Amino acid sequence: MSNLITKTTELAMQITLFYVEQGDTVIDATCGTGHDTLALAEAVGDGGRVYAFDIQKEAISLTSELLKNNGCTNVELFNESFVYMGEHVPEGSASAAVFNLGYLPGGDHSITTEAGATIEGLRAALKAIRTGGIVTVVLYDGHEEGRREKERVLRWAEKLDTKTYHAVFANMLNQNNYPPEILWITKKR
Ligand SMILES: C[S@@+](CC[C@H](N)C(=O)[O-])C[C@H]1O[C@@H](n2cnc3c(N)ncnc32)[C@H](O)[C@@H]1O
Repeated sequence: MSNLITKTTELAMQITLFYVEQGDTVIDATCGTGHDTLALAEAVGDGGRVYAFDIQKEAISLTSELLKNNGCTNVELFNESFVYMGEHVPEGSASAAVFNLGYLPGGDHSITTEAGATIEGLRAALKAIRTGGIVTVVLYDGHEEGRREKERVLRWAEKLDTKTYHAVFANMLNQNNYPPEILWITKKR
């Protein structure tokens, strides 16, 4: 058995997939290179649907190519901010939404998620998920905007209504070089 906690993004995806079944609707808020989108597309299968967003054309092209190479036809890609996901994803329809924050790996590091928009996107995601669904956020505080973003996102999550949501934060206590951290929020049944 592999050690899940050695790769934070993999751990975040496994937590997410616990809430996802074949045929579900799910959201990748930041498709980037497309690896999370592909994992979600495979998890929901041909009968499911993935809505994937990114503000960078490069990310949409990388994701589109990866999906094509893997024969996935169940993904709708939007070259738009996750702030607008509510215009595309019916309210209460998704079992999961994934936010992998920061910048495109191998891309322009100055184009990164920003606290204000991220919180707006997270609010939209909480509307888009159904009862029993999950929103997973991978946070990076190794760069300045990432630190600001993490602080504001955690402060926002701490105040979520306890009757409706569970919010959990996991960080890698003894690792070097600012490993990513995970926030996950579930909508109570
Ligand atoms: C860490 S990468 C995502 C990695 C991706 N999940 C993967 O599997 O490769 C973060 C992405 O967020 C995108 N991004 C930044 N702000 C955004 C926004 N407001 N809406 C959607 N995407 C955004 C960036 O363009 C970048 O591609």
